[in-house]
Amino acid sequence: WGKQGHIMVCKIAEVPTFNSCLLLGCRLQNYLSEKAVAAVKELLPESAGGELSTMCPWADEVRFRYYWSRPLHYVNTPQVCNFKYSRDCHNSRGQQGMCVVGAINNYTEQLYSYGDSKTSYNLTESLMFLAHFVGDVHQPLHVGFEEDEGGNTIKVHWYRRKENLHHVWDNSIIETAMKDFYNRSLDTMVEALKMNLTDGWSDDISHWENCANKKATCANDYAIESIHLACNYAYKDVEQDITLGDDYFFSRYPIVEKRLAQAGIRLALILNRIFGEDTDGN
Ligand code: ADE
Ligand code: ZN
Ligand code: ZN
Repeated sequence: WGKQGHIMVCKIAEVPTFNSCLLLGCRLQNYLSEKAVAAVKELLPESAGGELSTMCPWADEVRFRYYWSRPLHYVNTPQVCNFKYSRDCHNSRGQQGMCVVGAINNYTEQLYSYGDSKTSYNLTESLMFLAHFVGDVHQPLHVGFEEDEGGNTIKVHWYRRKENLHHVWDNSIIETAMKDFYNRSLDTMVEALKMNLTDGWSDDISHWENCANKKATCANDYAIESIHLACNYAYKDVEQDITLGDDYFFSRYPIVEKRLAQAGIRLALILNRIFGEDTDGN
């Protein structure tokens, strides 16, 4: 995702909202546990102003300083609509684990050493990388085809503007939705996504929490979902120099909104598992 997508994912994970306002009043819904909120607060740098969401685009800003981190934002397949860790998760030099799925597993593992005074990891950076990469693995074209670099080499027109397909999914769909539906306000869009989480998608959330291989994270499964969405929605009916407009926007923005929301929920779940769940069941 672009900057706005990453901020939205992290706001969904960390900002509490009022929901289910019944006769007895409203309940404050917080996806992050109290322990996770406390740990995140302690790990955040001063410049974050106490908010994780301000640091969620950080990993894109250090792409050049930390050159090794570039392949950690995505994973590509050899032109097939499935993902296999052993086949696909490597950098250009063939080093295993150097992809977005390996990165999520690695930074999750590092964060488990929180509270261990002898830890040799920079857990502030681990947290900022993890929060960013959980967002990226949910962007369908971050699990795309090697040949077109996840849509980066597919030139398209987004309405009348020249873009590439990857940028359309990182930024343009979000920007158009914000402009057309949400008064150009990021916070209004985040509120709408959260509303959907408590109404429309509430039955789905328990499924989003589970995954086939119950290991540290379900990042493998998130990547499988993304390549399926890339094939069925992002790449579907797209060719070089095509113009994408209303038809494409209205059929694809629901996917983008759902993936942003899923990423936020799952980021909160991962952080809760690492730092501790609340005893009252939240
Ligand atoms: N560069 C190469 N492949 C990419 C992908 N799938 N996403 C983002 N950047 C990439
Ligand atoms: Zn991207
Ligand atoms: Zn990224």
